[in-house]
Amino acid sequence: MRIDLHFTPDTIKQEHLENRVAVVIDVLRASTTICTALKNGCKAIIPCDDLEKARNIHASIGPEAALLCGERLGQKLPGFDLGNSPDEYAPDVVKGMTLIFASTNGSRTLVKTARAALTLVCGFSNLSAMAQFLADEQRDILIACSGKLGVFALEDTLCGGALIERLVKSEGSRVTIHDSNDAARAALQLYNAESRPLLDAISEADHARYLSSLGFAADLKTAASIDAIPIIPQLVEGRIVTMNAVASS
Ligand code: MLT
Repeated sequence: MRIDLHFTPDTIKQEHLENRVAVVIDVLRASTTICTALKNGCKAIIPCDDLEKARNIHASIGPEAALLCGERLGQKLPGFDLGNSPDEYAPDVVKGMTLIFASTNGSRTLVKTARAALTLVCGFSNLSAMAQFLADEQRDILIACSGKLGVFALEDTLCGGALIERLVKSEGSRVTIHDSNDAARAALQLYNAESRPLLDAISEADHARYLSSLGFAADLKTAASIDAIPIIPQLVEGRIVTMNAVASS
């Protein structure tokens, strides 16, 4: 099982995705929000890297069956139903609805990795479930951290490192970090060197401090709740659904 990691989607080329399981990470907050929305019964999530496209898809499905969701600069947009706080995605809001999801970085990474052999969504909230799934699959992995506007994000890299650490522990010599992928090596070292509680570690990240300044400090706690939502979100033909729901949908 070969593992590569990219700090941002900008360095990912289509050839990197061939025969790979892409694991998209956006701890603050897209991964956490997507896991929450699926747990709370939304029908599917359609990631969009463009606001106009999102509005058009929303209009074509109709407001009775779809919600327009996402953010720019961390804030809900005018005319949108929901922003990007996991708390907004409560069961009575999202159950049975299709969510058109246009976040700044996470949605972009999802669109960019859609052509991988399999595209999954990971945060700390589904970390162990994801590690177990990947260990069972025994396929080559590309961890796609979303970063922030093309720049390294501490919380995503820590999560990537945590995922690699779990795989190295459970799979031992079956795991190879490719010689040319210092990013995977660095993520693992960063995670292993971190001794503070996870919430403290991610709270000092740039985007965490920004979200706190907007009044979203509670979202950091949700994002740092390890294994709170043990599901595998999978992107299938442009729609994110929970993996065990794929067979039955
Ligand atoms: C994103 O996808 O860019 C993030 O989830 C931004 C946010 O915190 O809302």
